[in-house]
Amino acid sequence: MLAEIKDIAEKLAPRLIEIRRHLHAHPELSGEEYQTAAYVAGVLSSCGLHVTESVGKTGVIGELSGDNTDNRTLAIRTDMDALPIQERTNLEFASRNPGIMHACGHDVHSTLGLGTAMVLSQLPEALPGNMRFIFQPAEEIAQGARWMVDDGVMSGVDAIFGVHVFPSIPVKTVGIRYGALTAAADDLEIIIQGESGHGARPHQAIDAIWIASQIITTLQQAISRTQNSLHPVVLTIGEIEGGRAPNVIADHVKMLGTVRSLHPDSHACLPNWIENIVTSICDTYGAKCQVHYSRAVPSVQNDPQLTQLLESACREAWGNERVQIINEPSLGAEDFSVYLEQVPGCMFRLGVGIPEQKNHPLHHPQFEIDEAAIVTGVVALAYTAYQYYQ
Ligand code: NI
Repeated sequence: MLAEIKDIAEKLAPRLIEIRRHLHAHPELSGEEYQTAAYVAGVLSSCGLHVTESVGKTGVIGELSGDNTDNRTLAIRTDMDALPIQERTNLEFASRNPGIMHACGHDVHSTLGLGTAMVLSQLPEALPGNMRFIFQPAEEIAQGARWMVDDGVMSGVDAIFGVHVFPSIPVKTVGIRYGALTAAADDLEIIIQGESGHGARPHQAIDAIWIASQIITTLQQAISRTQNSLHPVVLTIGEIEGGRAPNVIADHVKMLGTVRSLHPDSHACLPNWIENIVTSICDTYGAKCQVHYSRAVPSVQNDPQLTQLLESACREAWGNERVQIINEPSLGAEDFSVYLEQVPGCMFRLGVGIPEQKNHPLHHPQFEIDEAAIVTGVVALAYTAYQYYQ
């Protein structure tokens, strides 16, 4: 079956590159993937899949029924949205939508989902069970997975695989990670209410800007003294607003930040830990405060058995030199984890680095990929799906 999957994927390569270039040229922002969704739905229908549109706003599902000797359903999730970036590549299929670019490779991901559906739809004997292809909107704003799950996309699903392109891994290579792949990412808002006054007489006022600086410094230092060093936590205040004039003490400061963690224990304790530090500093200096901590996306925790299944399938497909075990997790975030709250799954990285060329990182206006990665990704997904049912 491996030889058949590889053969079909190779033959489909020109068509898959055409699909990817079409998607790349017509990027759409998170939650606005109308043309992309219609295009994806069209390709799925033409391969004979049962298609449902407008799932989780602009999401699409394609379903392929097996011969019912196994009533399980395996899902493959890809995402479809682009970023508010002006593309600066010289590609002939560069974005035609000003200020919007597929700079995170979601054009490739959608192509991989479609390619895998095309391959498996030509091999009905490979599938005793069902396949559900999930084309998700709005990954970049960490909302789309939740929209689709709330719309019932995981109903009846037993396991799920996902993929993300990675420019620092060489093309035709697969990056596999056991355990945590990405971090939990939470949103933080802190509002400090002090009391205004003359800049020359701070003792008659409550200086919200100075208190904010104490909070930022204390939070950073307290991570190193009170959080387990083996369970990384990164807290970044990325936006701060307060004050109107150089000689007036600010009575109000608003700070926004992101909090990343990998270990469930840290993740559980962070909201109270932050609130205690902020309120105790504000109490000490007579300010009032509000702390809003909201959990955005959990950590992607790859299931050991499914990761093993993927690893063996990839080693069998291409040999060991094209499989990289990823030793360190990322503190980036990925809403694939929202599906993992429902079922076990595994997300891997697909190398797209162009040989002997400077490879720009994800979200860069000159981000490019080596399209030879597409066949690698399709074979990885299709052969892993086949192995899942063995
Ligand atoms: Ni991405």
